[in-house]
Amino acid sequence: MMFLPILLIGIIIFLISYVIYHRYSYFFRRSIPSPAITSIIFGHLSELWSVQSYSEQLRQWTLQYGSIYGTFEGTRPLYVVSDMKFIEEVYVKQFARFYARRTAFSSRILGNTRSNVFTANLPQLWKRQRMILNPTFSGAKMRRLLPTVDICINTFLERLSMITDGTIINIYEIYKRLTMDVICQCAFSIDTKVQNDMNNNNIYMKKIEELFAKDFERTNLGKIHRIISNTRLARICSLLYQLKQFFHCQTSSLPANFWLIENMQKFIQQRVIELDHKKRVDDFIQLMIDAVHSEKGQLSSSELFSNAFVLLIAGFETTSTALGYCTYRLAIHQDIQAKLYEEILEHWSSETNSYDVIMTKLTYLDYFVKEVLRMYPIAIQAINRQCMEDTDVVGYQIEKGSLIQVDVFSVHFNQELWGPEAVEEFHPERHSQKRNPLAFLTFGAGPRTCLGMRFALMEIKLCLVRLINEYQLLPASDEKYKMNIREHIVIQPEKVFVRLEKRST
Ligand code: HEM
Repeated sequence: MMFLPILLIGIIIFLISYVIYHRYSYFFRRSIPSPAITSIIFGHLSELWSVQSYSEQLRQWTLQYGSIYGTFEGTRPLYVVSDMKFIEEVYVKQFARFYARRTAFSSRILGNTRSNVFTANLPQLWKRQRMILNPTFSGAKMRRLLPTVDICINTFLERLSMITDGTIINIYEIYKRLTMDVICQCAFSIDTKVQNDMNNNNIYMKKIEELFAKDFERTNLGKIHRIISNTRLARICSLLYQLKQFFHCQTSSLPANFWLIENMQKFIQQRVIELDHKKRVDDFIQLMIDAVHSEKGQLSSSELFSNAFVLLIAGFETTSTALGYCTYRLAIHQDIQAKLYEEILEHWSSETNSYDVIMTKLTYLDYFVKEVLRMYPIAIQAINRQCMEDTDVVGYQIEKGSLIQVDVFSVHFNQELWGPEAVEEFHPERHSQKRNPLAFLTFGAGPRTCLGMRFALMEIKLCLVRLINEYQLLPASDEKYKMNIREHIVIQPEKVFVRLEKRST
């Protein structure tokens, strides 16, 4: 009598074990190295979520397992790669099969109708939005935006002028305010004046800081969503989330990302109403509004709100973080700073303050910024792709649904790609040599590379030129002021301490 149930339980246990074994031997069967699994539910994510730095962990595994290895997000295979041929195939040559990023939980909740250029995962959706937004970031547009950025930098310098020479300051905090003013002014023509709001009353600034401090993707439902690749099951998570919201339905309790989208919506609707009565303003939003109202009706209004949100997010934390790292390096390399100052004196004056001077004449500045961004890539987790069709990549059979993540640190610190000078050394001149175009991945790779790169570089360079022109930046020598780096959505310093000394004219 007892035999049958025992046999049944045995068979069930055997079948479950077999399914788990079969799944997790996925890479083994393909002779691809893979770190040991620490959780049969989360795969390697449990380890990656517990370490301080996701990207450092990938780099450590690359040292152990080589330039192509496999990990699991739940039971979903993810290839971590730093092999240049593999990267070229996935990000450039076979882009048609790898056009999508991993679907984020927030975009599953918002759905395709509220997708933006960053989250769109259907080829026609992404292509159309990217085509509309591309001209917004053209060289010609940047030229016209430079004076607006310059005005925000005036306020930034005014703030610095209130600080007594030699005082140790956390300049990162001031950069965040600057980049917020810049993006709001250039994208939406809103004068947020966050730089003058030292009491932190600006609600947009608060919400954006909240968004970067609390990663929505790491909420419990977000984590479950991440390990479930099956679309139907993943939809259940978003339904559960919506139910949860329904029962706590005050707007104030919305997570920061949804709060921002809601409020962008109100703001843009106001802009559309004012369109006929007001002088045309030349900003990113105007271009998108034109697209909504064009005969082709190229951008739906919900896509417009969503894209406005993504520009705000993408343009704020990344650029201020880059400026923070640049300042840190300037302060500790006085010789490099002196060389930059010389170059600025030679080519730049407030009268010749043009896009061309900033972007083409200041060669050493260009090398300097690139070297900073080589050593400190900021948003590496964004550089992932999802395989949309079974294919062969340099001899590896990649199945539909698998994910690819570049291990940017291993590429940026690859001696063969970046030598002969030691890759750990800060050496701007290494960028004077022609390198493999995919060796520099700070802005991603291929057709889906960063849309705002030109804008970010213009803002960073203009700010540095004006800062170095007025101040010598000195390190905050005490150990307690050292730069600690943390990794969340972006890899960023906690604080960047520096001392400023006004240059004598
Ligand atoms: C130093 C500053 C910045 C860094 C390091 C950075 C980095 C990145 C990276 C790594 C990606 C993913 C690329 C890929 O998957 O291949 C990306 C995408 C993107 N970035 Fe940036 N970014 C910066 C500034 C900006 C700015 C200022 C904007 C806009 C105002 C912007 C808008 C975007 C958008 C819209 C995408 C999605 C593009 C697409 O999927 O087609 N970024 N960025």
